[in-house]
Amino acid sequence: MIIDQFNRVHDYLRISLTDNCNFRCFYCMPEEEYEFTPASKLMQAHEIETIAKTFVSLGVKKIRLTGGEPLVRKDAADIILALSKLPVTLTLTTNGARLHEFLPTLKQAGITSLNVSLDTLQADKFQLITRRDQFKRVYDNIHLLIENDIRAKVNVVVMKDFNDQEINSFIAWTKNTPVHVRFIEFMPFQGNRWTSNKVLTWQQILQIIEAEYSFLPLKGELNDTAKKYLVPGHAGTFAVISTMSAPFCSTCNRMRLTADGKMKNCLFSQEETDLLTTIRNGGDIIPLIRQSIHAKKKELGGQFNTDFEHLEASAIQNRSMITIGG
Ligand code: GTP
Ligand code: 5AD
Ligand code: SF4
Repeated sequence: MIIDQFNRVHDYLRISLTDNCNFRCFYCMPEEEYEFTPASKLMQAHEIETIAKTFVSLGVKKIRLTGGEPLVRKDAADIILALSKLPVTLTLTTNGARLHEFLPTLKQAGITSLNVSLDTLQADKFQLITRRDQFKRVYDNIHLLIENDIRAKVNVVVMKDFNDQEINSFIAWTKNTPVHVRFIEFMPFQGNRWTSNKVLTWQQILQIIEAEYSFLPLKGELNDTAKKYLVPGHAGTFAVISTMSAPFCSTCNRMRLTADGKMKNCLFSQEETDLLTTIRNGGDIIPLIRQSIHAKKKELGGQFNTDFEHLEASAIQNRSMITIGG
């Protein structure tokens, strides 16, 4: 088992397959021209498999593939199929644009649940966020997942005066569609145009929903990022992810691997442990993994909850989201 100094068992690994993406979401990419990491610096498929197997030998039970966009990687299907043979729950967080091409692979890999990012139900606003005209493609692909018995959770990053008017349209979508919408508090990363007055807290989100719907809390699991709710009679559910106003560090079970093979013990940690170079030199990464988790802070995400209203985006030093994978 991988346990940190605060007795948190770490059994969930998020692997970024690439920092490349076919969308250009402003809240995820740095503002300046961004150069994607060249393929030679990325973990190769067999290296991902080796590193994943080592984590599994240490007790990892869940692997989530992230990006950038994981499905733009040419060998994404091979990686998914290889990792599906490990004794873990395998899943992905994706922008949804290529899901129709990957459906047979996802089925073959036994994947039963996916998280898809979709911040608006309006095609023109979708284009403003992503700089791509692919709303219908993503929306249809979410329905395609559901038709094929793959549970679809939809991540909505809520930004004040941008998509907060749409919160109840998302709830309306859950009436007849068994989709699981998750409203996320907007987080700051380098160059992502974050300001504290764009954050809508989870209580504010619930108030907006309360004005039109009554709902009940659903029981969650220990390590959940989301607080879940059900509007009685709706086919789907909704949830809030309180990344800013109420971080969930005390139950964190997450470790991250960037596409260039660096382990991060926290979404907000600046220290990184280079596992890929050690693997390439024939070294043992187990001591490195243990050291990284031993050094994990109690609550880096907690830096926000005390006073995020007064936080300046310039104070945030972290890779941009596209290079971490969320
Ligand atoms: P589930 O397995 O469905 O619970 O997924 P998840 O919530 O772990 O993953 P997903 O990739 O869908 O992320 C949803 C949101 O939660 C994103 O905005 C992530 O950045 C955020 N998130 C995930 N893990 C953490 C974390 O450890 N800390 C913080 N602050 N945010 C996180
Ligand atoms: N704040 C909150 N969530 C974010 N995501 C990307 N950038 C941010 C941000 N700045 C979400 C995406 C994706 C998940 C991995 O992280 O919507 O679904
Ligand atoms: Fe875990 Fe860090 Fe997120 Fe807190 S901020 S929940 S410690 S990854």
